[in-house]
Amino acid sequence: MGIEKLIRSELLAFGGYSAATSPETLEGKIDVAAEDIIKIDANENPYGCSPRVQKALAQYQQFNIYPDDGQEKLRKMLAGYVGVNARHIVAGNGSNQLIDLLIRLLVANGDEVINCTPTFGIYSFSTKLCNGTLVEIPRDDDFNIDIAKVKSAISKKTKIIFVTNPNNPTGNLTPEKDIIELMETGVPVVVDEAYYEFSRQTIVPFVHEYENLIILRTFSKWAGLAGLRVGYGLFPPLIADYILRIKIPYNVNVAALVAVMESLKDVDYLMASVQKIIDERERLLARLQKIEWLKVYPSQSNFILCRVLNMDAKELHNQLQMQGILVRYFDQSRIKDCVRFSVGKPEHTDALIKTLHKIGG
Ligand SMILES: Cc1ncc(COP(=O)(O)O)c(C=O)c1O
Repeated sequence: MGIEKLIRSELLAFGGYSAATSPETLEGKIDVAAEDIIKIDANENPYGCSPRVQKALAQYQQFNIYPDDGQEKLRKMLAGYVGVNARHIVAGNGSNQLIDLLIRLLVANGDEVINCTPTFGIYSFSTKLCNGTLVEIPRDDDFNIDIAKVKSAISKKTKIIFVTNPNNPTGNLTPEKDIIELMETGVPVVVDEAYYEFSRQTIVPFVHEYENLIILRTFSKWAGLAGLRVGYGLFPPLIADYILRIKIPYNVNVAALVAVMESLKDVDYLMASVQKIIDERERLLARLQKIEWLKVYPSQSNFILCRVLNMDAKELHNQLQMQGILVRYFDQSRIKDCVRFSVGKPEHTDALIKTLHKIGG
């Protein structure tokens, strides 16, 4: 009794982030063995990482030694991949950590963060943790950002505008000219390019032109390293220095470092997997479009959002889960009746479509 009083009052009602379900937690709850579960709920890469990563980690001899806290080698390698100077780059324990660090660096009590909803949940999660104020600007019916509305929402307290490109969970891109218009306001604009390798649209060429541009990337999706947690950000060098100062020491572990090194030696292999996913996305899209009780949204990413027209999205999620297919449903406004399917292998598409017909029929 009493210990709850010690918790910051604004966090007492904090709901946390609802992360994807881990198959092992379903053991005994559904009639499908964990290894047979089709996991298309977290936009992971069904083809896995580069075989070079598996081999290098099996041979690695220095798990007893801390990594380089300053990330010198890692930042250089990432700089080579992106084509900018390493001074711009900081790596994180997933790009989630960089979102969190950046918000912690810029957002104090009552500062405002502009979020173009519906969008990825971590921006609001970390803003609330820092006691910042979320200014939510709803996207239009096709999930495009209303640039005029965003601009008119800017105040003296605005610290960040988040632009997810392509957006998660809606899959659409924001045109370059719109991002430029936002950068012209002078407010820090964070362009989250977690799915860049699938969309191939990037704002990187503008890094030197705009001091208020920050770009986030990850190895979770295209490189199949979600479980090792490694992402990176491109910041103005001054901000990169501060991020390096406020991060927890050794935030990227040695396994992730080795994995990045090997992945970057095997980009052709990984991009061949990305191409398979892009091809499969188009096949999945066409198959989903034939199901009359789904409204399907086009995607430039590795997932597809669908509005469920004949039942509760949560009910569809639950029924699919009972059949061993994990998908994402949402409780954010505007997408409450939506599910998101990550693009899997062709056999995952076939199983999903078959099960959807069974449930819908
Ligand atoms: C838009 C977006 N940004 C960032 C992330 C987080 O990626 P990471 O695994 O690098 O933390 C995700 C993951 O789903 C995402 O969808």
